[in-house]
Formats: sequence, structure tokens, C-alpha cells
Amino acid sequence: MTTPKRMDSQVTGIGLLGLGVVGSAVANTITDRHRLEDPSVPLEVVAAVVRDPSRKREVSLDQSAISTDIETVIANPEVGIVVELMGGVDPAFDYITSALKAGQHVVTANKEVMAKRGIDLLATAAENSVQLLYEASVAGGIPIIGPLMNDLAANKIRSLRGIINGTTNFILTKMAHEGADFNDVLTEAQSLGYAESDPTADVDGFDAQYKIAVLARLAYHTEVPVDEIHREGIQEVHAKDFRYAKELGYTIKLLAVAQADSESGLLARVHPALIPFEVPMATVNGVLNAVEVEGDLVGPLWFQGPGAGPNPTASAVMGDVIRVTKSGSGEETTPDVPDPFLIASMDDHVCQYYLRLTASDRPGVLASVAKVLGDADISINSVLQKDTDTENGRADLVIMTHPAREANMQSAVSSIKELDTVLQLDSLLRVETYSDRS
Ligand code: HSE
Repeated sequence: MTTPKRMDSQVTGIGLLGLGVVGSAVANTITDRHRLEDPSVPLEVVAAVVRDPSRKREVSLDQSAISTDIETVIANPEVGIVVELMGGVDPAFDYITSALKAGQHVVTANKEVMAKRGIDLLATAAENSVQLLYEASVAGGIPIIGPLMNDLAANKIRSLRGIINGTTNFILTKMAHEGADFNDVLTEAQSLGYAESDPTADVDGFDAQYKIAVLARLAYHTEVPVDEIHREGIQEVHAKDFRYAKELGYTIKLLAVAQADSESGLLARVHPALIPFEVPMATVNGVLNAVEVEGDLVGPLWFQGPGAGPNPTASAVMGDVIRVTKSGSGEETTPDVPDPFLIASMDDHVCQYYLRLTASDRPGVLASVAKVLGDADISINSVLQKDTDTENGRADLVIMTHPAREANMQSAVSSIKELDTVLQLDSLLRVETYSDRS
């Protein structure tokens, strides 16, 4: 059993859950910087829980502080702040809950648990008058949660748009610049350590989905269930699409977006999108992350920086730790979550679409596709015919539409796939709408 306790100014002992590269960077930052340089904040890692204590670590921490026993952290009266860096929901949710109930403040980098169970954890923190801070859970070193929670609190947020997954941005950037195919770049990203051996969480958009759930809840004071966030990964984006998009004036990025207004509600979505070359988001390359927030008072804001990595993540974690030591009780930063927005359906989203088809190169083909689109109330903006293969009588048809409703487009796509003149529908990508483009 754990003993309820409260952190006071004397108890700045830190318990680490997880001592991988980020945990080690946090421990080393505390040792190298805060304890030595700022004796008024006598932070100290007093216990660390790991899966394998025998593993070799580059960390300046006494081996006796490292164990596999969670009770060395959550039943430890020396620990005032628990830093959770394990990731995943199970057992992190239970550990964080136990720590909060034991009166310990918690700082976490765990986007999945904050996306899926954050509402319960924030309630537990409030009930126990402790803080639960999670700046490191989204966009690594970029301060975005603090600004949404505090500095921008007076604004109505009009939109929040980000490149918040570095792995996919690295892959898409390479594809754009080198004309390479997805699978080749993925292999390279894996060998460089930018992609996991099982890349699903990144390339299928789950990681970005969790992060936008966390940001949308803060921005719109509305719980956004993860499975109500439209999610598509980058596996269907092909080298050809970058070529054609470029001719049309766009690049392709995996965007995570949350937008809300009182009429249509709140829509959160993650999908590859065509981005006009002239907007800043088009220039965010490699593993960088960026978030663009538009508030009604402040206007558009732009945050860009490293979205992952031991030191950038430790920077965000330590910012939260220091905030806890300075503010004591958690009430002022524990957001309540009223419910002013309904969650909108992706079916009602309106944007331009880019379609790439492999079609027979013969009379009437374009007319048949145009008819399907027209019947679905979708107007064509431009058409390119590319890579004509006269020998096999086929060509790439690239169609850019005017703004259309998602449900209409999905129904048109089903009908286009049925046309015997269309050999394959290769790509359907959304064009991101920037209302202030001249
Ligand atoms: N895998 C993530 C990314 C980093 O590629 O951005 C941690 O969230």
C-alpha cells in the first residue's frame, strides 16, 4: 500500500519510470545542471524503475537507485515528482494513477496515455490536488502544451495544424527531394534510427493521431476520442505523386489538424495533404516538427523545432519538473474540460482533392470520370494527362477538383473504381486549405 503524501518545498526527489535514452538524458540534466548550478532547486533522482537493471546505461545515477519495483517510486516518501517515460497505456496508466493518488506530481512524455486516458488522469490529479504535466508528450522539445494551457488561454483557437511526426516527415521529405519510393526511404530511416523496426505507429498515423487528440482537447476544451479522429498514414503516397503535385504547386506532408467553429463543430484529422509551396509548413523538412496555431486574439503563431530526441524531450520534461517545483499545488494548471464543441464528422469536411488514376488512353475516358464527379456534385479544377504508355494504351490521369465534400468524394471514388475505363485509382489526397492565400 502507498502512503498519501504531499510534496513540499523540501521534497524535490524525482522518481523515474523508464531509464532509456530520454530517462538518461533527464537524469543527466538534473545531475549536471540543476543540482550543481541552482542549489535553490535541489532536484535529485532518488529512484528509477526499469525493465532490465543490468542493461548498460550512460547515466550518472547510483546503481542502488535503479530497480524493477514500482513501489520504490510510488511508495517512496522521498519522491515528490514522478517522471513517466515508459510510453503506452499499460501499465503506465495504473502507475500514473497510483502516483497521483499517493500525492505525487507527475510529469509524463506519454502521448498515448494522455490521448486515450488523459481525461481520467487529469481528474485524478485534480481530486488529489497534484499536477499532471505533459509538455513532452507532443512535438518533443517544442513548447506547445504550455502555451495552449496558459499563454493562449484567452483566445478562441481557430485552427491548429501541425507536422507532429518526425519519422514520416523524414520519409516524405526524402521522397520529395530524391524521387525515392516509400519502401526504400523507410529502410533508410530504419537504418538511421529514425524509424522503428515496426514502423506502424508512425507511418500509419497513430502517433500523430494521439498527439492531435492531446492538442485538440487543450485548444478546444473538449474531449476528443482518439477513434473519432480521422487517420490515414503515408503508405499510399507514391514518388509520382510528388512529381505531379510539384507541377501543380504543392508538396506533400502528413498533417495533423484540429479546427472548430460553433456551427460545424470540431474536426480532427490526420492524413497526407498537398501543401502549397508558399506556406511555411511546406518548408518543414526532415525530422523537424512544426505547429501552427491561430487564435482569434493573437492571430497566427508558428512553432518549429525538434520533435523527438533525448535532449529536446528532456528539455520539455525538465521545464515541467521545474514548473512543479515553483508552483506547488496543481490546481492552477489542471484544465477542466467542459464540452462546448460537438465532434464533427469527416464526411462533412470540404477541401480540394488530388486524384491520380491509371486509365485507358482512349476516347471517352475523361468524360466518364468527369461524369461520375459531376453526378456527385464535384467540379474539376484541372486535369493533367501524364506518362502516356501508347504501347499498352494507358496513361496517368491527374485530376485536381474544386472544393468538395468528403462524403461526395468517397462515393465518387467508389463509382470511379467501378469504371471499366479506369484500371486503377492510385492516389486520393486532400489539399490543405489556407484561407489567407492570395
Ligand atoms: N516517433 C515520433 C516521431 C517521436 O517520429 O515524431 C516520438 O513521438
